[in-house]
This record gives sequence, C-alpha cells and structure tokens, in this order.
Amino acid sequence: MSKRKIILDVDTGSDDALAIMTALLAPEHFEVVGICSVHGNRPIENTTENTLRVVELLGSEVPVIRGCAAPLTAQIDPLRALRIRANQKELEDGEQVQYHAEQLPLPPATRTPLPGAYASIWYIETLMAAKEKITLVMVGPQTNFALAYRIEPRILEQVEEIVIMGGGHDQHNSTGAAEFNIFADPEAAAIVFECGEKVPLTVLPLDATHLANMRPHHEALFRSWGTAVGDFVADQIRERLDAYNVMQPLHEPDIAPIHDALCLIYLMDESVITKKKFVRADVVCGGMADGDTLFDTRYYTDRPKNCTVCLSTDEEKFAALFVEVLSRAR
Ligand code: BDR
Ligand code: CA
Repeated sequence: MSKRKIILDVDTGSDDALAIMTALLAPEHFEVVGICSVHGNRPIENTTENTLRVVELLGSEVPVIRGCAAPLTAQIDPLRALRIRANQKELEDGEQVQYHAEQLPLPPATRTPLPGAYASIWYIETLMAAKEKITLVMVGPQTNFALAYRIEPRILEQVEEIVIMGGGHDQHNSTGAAEFNIFADPEAAAIVFECGEKVPLTVLPLDATHLANMRPHHEALFRSWGTAVGDFVADQIRERLDAYNVMQPLHEPDIAPIHDALCLIYLMDESVITKKKFVRADVVCGGMADGDTLFDTRYYTDRPKNCTVCLSTDEEKFAALFVEVLSRAR
C-alpha cells in the first residue's frame, strides 16, 4: 500500500496514545498532517494535553489541534446524560483500576496546541486547501469532523477514505447495544456514516478490536528496554490489562485490546483483518439502543451500502506488526 497523508482524531487515552505512536513511527506508510483532540475518554483539556505529551515523547513536530469539548447534541437530553460507562473502579484493597488515566504518566507538554485553531475549522481549512486527498483516522467520538462537514460539505471531495474505530456488531461495551466512541456522540457518528455514501468508509468495531491484543509478555518486552518510551508503553499495557481483567473480561484472561492502534495497523497491512463485509450501516440515535451501529449484513439491503465493516482480526499478525512498529522507538 502506498504512503498516505492522514489526519488523526483522538481522545487520548491509553490506546489512543499507542495509536498516535504507531502512526508517527511508520513514516513509510503515513505522513501525519495533524492530530485533532476531542472529548471522550477524558475531558478535552486532558485529551489535548495527553496528545501533546505523546507527540513530545517521540520528538515529533506534528501540529495538535484542540477539538470539540462536548458531543453535538447528546448531552442536551437529560435522559441520555445518565449513561456514560465508568472509566474506573476501586478494588477492595483501595487500589483503583482504570482504562484511561486523567493525565498520561509523561512529562507535562512544553508545546501548546496550534494557536487560535479549532479542529472543525482546521479540518475545513486544511481539506479545502489540500492538493492531495487525505485519509481521516478517527479513534474517538466523531464530533470534530461531523461539525466540519455540516459547515462545509465540500470538504469530502478531498477525503481519500475515512477509517474509524467504533461500533459493534456482536460486541458492545458502553451499553448492551453501543460501543463507547459511537455512544459518546451518536449524532456525529450518524453524520460520518452518511459520508460513507460518498467516500470509502472503513469501520473497525469491537468485533475486530477485541482481537487486537497485548498480553503480559508484551508488557515485559517493552519494560525490558529500560527506556522512557518502553516504560510508557508497558505502563499503558499494564493499565489496560488490569482494567479489562476487572471491569470487562474478554474471551481470555490477561488480554488488553489496543483498539485504536488497529486502525493504523490495518492501513499498513490490510491482511491483519481476516473478515470484512461491504454493508449498509446506520447509527441508532436515542431510545433503548442509543448509539447502536446497525450493520445490515444481508446481501440485498433496503438502502445504499455505505461502509466496509471489519469483523475479525489475525491476533498474532496484529501483535507482531504492532510490536515491530513500536520497537522502532527503542
Ligand atoms: C474505544 O473507546 C475508548 O475508550 C478507546 O480509546 C477506544 O477508542 C473502544 O470502545
Ligand atoms: Ca479512543
């Protein structure tokens, strides 16, 4: 696959941090035009600062653009405000496990986000001026781009492909029907899925990302480097192992999905996905199934197909590629 220009959209976040690192450490595959932060795993102040910390860890100069602080409309309805999944849990011994630290364990950023820039406006300015098409990789709630598209729909003409981590077909995490990134802003997701009728949209839901795992022996490998980068990666894996073991055990103990990094690994080597389907997908907005991604996998569908949904992953290939890329920072 040839080299792509990409924009990353992140709510950093432990697995977002590892996705950013994957993108920045694979310059033969990606030219990262900018990284937009968004609300999600933590408030926008934290996801922006955490993003800057990761970028600085790798000594990158890529611009970081502060994004939306809240979903488009989801917090307006008081019934929907009651619903966000717990990020952390206190154990009997008082110890706390969490999916995403408020502040990543890295030195405070010395850089600021791009002065005077706001992600939705920056998307419009960047895409309208782009000479080559750009791939958008969104691994948090999709508020920034949805808002940009509503302001200036012509931006889609300069989009090569949209790749998102989000949704679930058989698997869910925020509610019995919804995955976190979609549940955090269902209306934004619905707008992005609408774009899938005009540009290629690839969706990596939980069905694929629950097979994109790190294990304790990977943690040990990164720890063995004895470097700041190795310790950081090992810490993120450990945090996720503990959180999943306690709050969301998956098909085996001691596995930690690195959801967001799978989007980059997929763009580097599509064969990491072992099952995918071109389908009609819609986002349920409101009601019992709020935030559900309804993938219509029937051959004949009632409405135009709008996305390629990835449904299974080669676990070993993911782990090998991910470790190889991160090892470049050793
Ligand atoms: C998604 O939600 C977030 O907690 C992760 O960063 C990932 O993007 C998984 O549901
Ligand atoms: Ca994320």
